[in-house]
Amino acid sequence: MRIAILGSGFIARFYATTLHAQRRRDKIFTVYSRDLSNAQRFAGDYQLEHHTSDMDTAINHPDVDVVLIALPNDLHEVAVEKSARAGKHVLCTKPLGRTAAEAKRMLDMVERAGIFAGYLEDLCYTPKFLKSVNAIQNGSIGKVLWTKSREAHSGPHSDWFWDKGKSGGGAIIDLGCHCVEIGRNFIGKQVRPVEVMCWAATQVHPIDAEDQAIGLVRYANGAIGQFEVSWTFRGGMDLRDEVIGTEGSIWLNNFLRTGFEIFSVQQKDTYVAEKAEVNNGWMFPVGDEAHELGYPHMFTDMFDAIEQKREPLETFYDGYIVNAILDAAYESARTKKWEPVLIEDWRGEEFAGQGEALTSYDDEHFLIKEEVLPNKDLKTILKHKLTGMVSQRILKA
Ligand SMILES: NC(=O)c1ccc[n+]([C@@H]2O[C@H](COP(=O)([O-])OP(=O)(O)OC[C@H]3O[C@@H](n4cnc5c(N)ncnc54)[C@H](O)[C@@H]3O)[C@@H](O)[C@H]2O)c1
Repeated sequence: MRIAILGSGFIARFYATTLHAQRRRDKIFTVYSRDLSNAQRFAGDYQLEHHTSDMDTAINHPDVDVVLIALPNDLHEVAVEKSARAGKHVLCTKPLGRTAAEAKRMLDMVERAGIFAGYLEDLCYTPKFLKSVNAIQNGSIGKVLWTKSREAHSGPHSDWFWDKGKSGGGAIIDLGCHCVEIGRNFIGKQVRPVEVMCWAATQVHPIDAEDQAIGLVRYANGAIGQFEVSWTFRGGMDLRDEVIGTEGSIWLNNFLRTGFEIFSVQQKDTYVAEKAEVNNGWMFPVGDEAHELGYPHMFTDMFDAIEQKREPLETFYDGYIVNAILDAAYESARTKKWEPVLIEDWRGEEFAGQGEALTSYDDEHFLIKEEVLPNKDLKTILKHKLTGMVSQRILKA
């Protein structure tokens, strides 16, 4: 596939580094940047055939099959609209929209145009994440009850992120979009998100948007997806997930201090890792950043999906649902109450029962818990099915 990349900033470079690494087949043909010298520099760095400072020229170029949107949040809709009009496949970075209404318009545009549309949610493609989802789908941890996803760093790297009008908000829209979609994947995308409770505050930075938030998303099957996002965390980029199931648990640490540490007294002007903050003393680099953040698996799925005429793992519909959940989070942070997730077009399961996980011990009792004690006795705690009385039995070692 031949790609037009729109934008030449931070994420555009991650995408280009991924796409042009290790003999990949899909190549960037042209780059659009509003500043021609930036387009030229980017084209030079990645040896592109073409560059332009006109978005339409990039999208409509006859040699372009796929448009890859790496522009600020307020430009996603116009770029999707132009791609749909040109009948080109489109891949859009996160968040899909600044609001669910914006995301829904983008979803409608691509569906009306009948083009392929992929939502570039890289953190749902990290190798650890893909294995975890696979383990959950195979039943390894039973029913998922509670998920936690955290993304925390010291704040983003460009002016427009800090301008609520352009970005759509602060840490919730910027980082919460990742955490919410991670939770949805663990809990099951077919399960309807029902309501959200969220606390948000502007604790450090002189901005209108929130730089810290914690939210709970309640799903129709009783599961809770917790997100923790921060633009105030010092010391690197903390990306961690947890899944608590009836039969097991998963802990993921994706980025910071995952087993690679370098100590240096040199004060060199080097890049260590995304949002690393320091470049001497003890440092925590990342082996292959693009890989650890999920980009290669993400593009493989996207381009395979185009060829195989199937949906990718992350679609514009997913982007829309994420925006709907985040809209409810913003509303809850304002009202300080649980707020409903308003979805115009729910395509998952209509009703998922709470699925209480009661384990029968014998005809009369449910099992509460069994544990071997330090003296090796086996203690069994039971609840009577009719009376509800709680009792224990001890099998001496
Ligand atoms: N993990 C991820 O998937 C991830 C990480 C970072 C950013 N992003 C997303 O990527 C998008 C871009 O973020 P970024 O970090 O690359 O930002 P950036 O500021 O580094 O780059 C933005 C690019 O858009 C250009 N641009 C800015 N304003 C413009 C305008 N008015 N008209 C035309 N071009 C304009 C800039 O010149 C630059 O080339 C955002 O939607 C962001 O949320 C995703």
